[in-house]
Amino acid sequence: MTETTRGNWTSNAGFVLAATGSAIGLGNLWKFPFITWENNGGAFVLVYLICIAAVGLPIMMAELLIGRRSQKSAVGALKEAAGPLWGIVGGWGVIAAFILLSYYTVIAGWSLYYFAKTVGWSIGGLPGGTSMGDVFNAQSGNPGLQLALSLGFSIGTIAVVYFGVQRGIERIARIFLPILFGILVLMLFSALGMSGSGEALTFIFRPNFGALEPKSILEALGHSFFTLSLGMGAMITYGSYIARNQSVVKASGMIVLLDTLIALVATVIMFSVIFSVAGMADEVGGSTVGMLFISLPQLFFSEVPFGSLLGPLFYVLVALAALTSTMSLLEVVTSYMIDERGLGRHKATFISGGAIFVFTIFAALSFTDTPFLSTLNIFGEGKDGWFSTADHFVSNWMLPTGGLFITLAAGWFMTRKATESELVDGTQPGWFRYGAWRVFIRFVAPAAVLAIIIAVILGRDFS
Ligand code: PHE
Repeated sequence: MTETTRGNWTSNAGFVLAATGSAIGLGNLWKFPFITWENNGGAFVLVYLICIAAVGLPIMMAELLIGRRSQKSAVGALKEAAGPLWGIVGGWGVIAAFILLSYYTVIAGWSLYYFAKTVGWSIGGLPGGTSMGDVFNAQSGNPGLQLALSLGFSIGTIAVVYFGVQRGIERIARIFLPILFGILVLMLFSALGMSGSGEALTFIFRPNFGALEPKSILEALGHSFFTLSLGMGAMITYGSYIARNQSVVKASGMIVLLDTLIALVATVIMFSVIFSVAGMADEVGGSTVGMLFISLPQLFFSEVPFGSLLGPLFYVLVALAALTSTMSLLEVVTSYMIDERGLGRHKATFISGGAIFVFTIFAALSFTDTPFLSTLNIFGEGKDGWFSTADHFVSNWMLPTGGLFITLAAGWFMTRKATESELVDGTQPGWFRYGAWRVFIRFVAPAAVLAIIIAVILGRDFS
């Protein structure tokens, strides 16, 4: 496929928004606040910020430069950058995207449900005696509803990718991301006005190293991959649509900065709400889904000023953030079909989206008691179903190993000249910036990632 028929971002801003949209997602709104909570705040947040800067940023630059250099998607790009065998690493990424999308869609679907529910409560009032735990279990345990929600979300994702890089992905990111930022700012102001905001800020930003456990360091590192969409070729693919005159270094800095900012803002919002209610802090513990889908909806209707307006808006925010991530995941698989299998975009999108949806069905039914699945018993039942199996495998194994190989490809297998010409544009003395990147990508990042992999082998679970 020639460069002219291949998509390109229309502008630097469009690209940065699309890549930021991929990075910002359920990882920021759902996973980060929860793991910050579990790991006692302050010190964990500081370690996370260090991981983002020392490992996330260099790998972000590596992925984007590999993509831009080859103007090919994950498999072709890695082959061209580091040699034919490296296509396997790209293929590993395509499989990771496939699996990740299959279960990510399910949680994205829940945000649609909570949007509809909160709108209903805003209009009709919250019926007395409603238990949010029951509401949650009723929705996640209802097979028909689960299938409908994830089908709806999958169709949305497929529709965006169908229209391609400029008319689909970039356009949606351009419209939705500013809305997402707007909603967050609105919620931040509302949260800062609440009585618990001081306590929340202290919890998040005052490091208490006594409360930091060694496993938290690894968890912070693992999450920096997930949240920046690294380790599976999403950023290689997005990088392949960057024009030659756009700067990889500046774009990487911007994406990483925005993603981090949003994760912190989301955490401040959630904790301000939680700390404002006596006894809530103890209740939140428990489960990952608890915070986003059980505690928050309750609080919107009892504690948050203008909660009946902000509640539905918040779930719109979750849905938009999820969509700009799911479309990047589907693009990884679709662009592989286009570049390596020679399919047209429309056909490639339908085939990839359809195949992934088959696995989404298993993920969607993971929370239900579905006789069909129990009989089939392929992936185990209940909460041990496809959902948890897939999440465990992708977060713990696929992203770190993919990331490790990407650092090796960029740091050791590509020539210095090749990477330097992508990162440094001739007019400026870039040796300092380049030299620093090279040290991080050759030594710091692979050593850190290897540490996660060894920890996983020794039995530490990150999911
Ligand atoms: N970065 C996304 C999030 O934080 C998840 C994601 C991972 C998206 C990998 C694409 C690729 O939710």
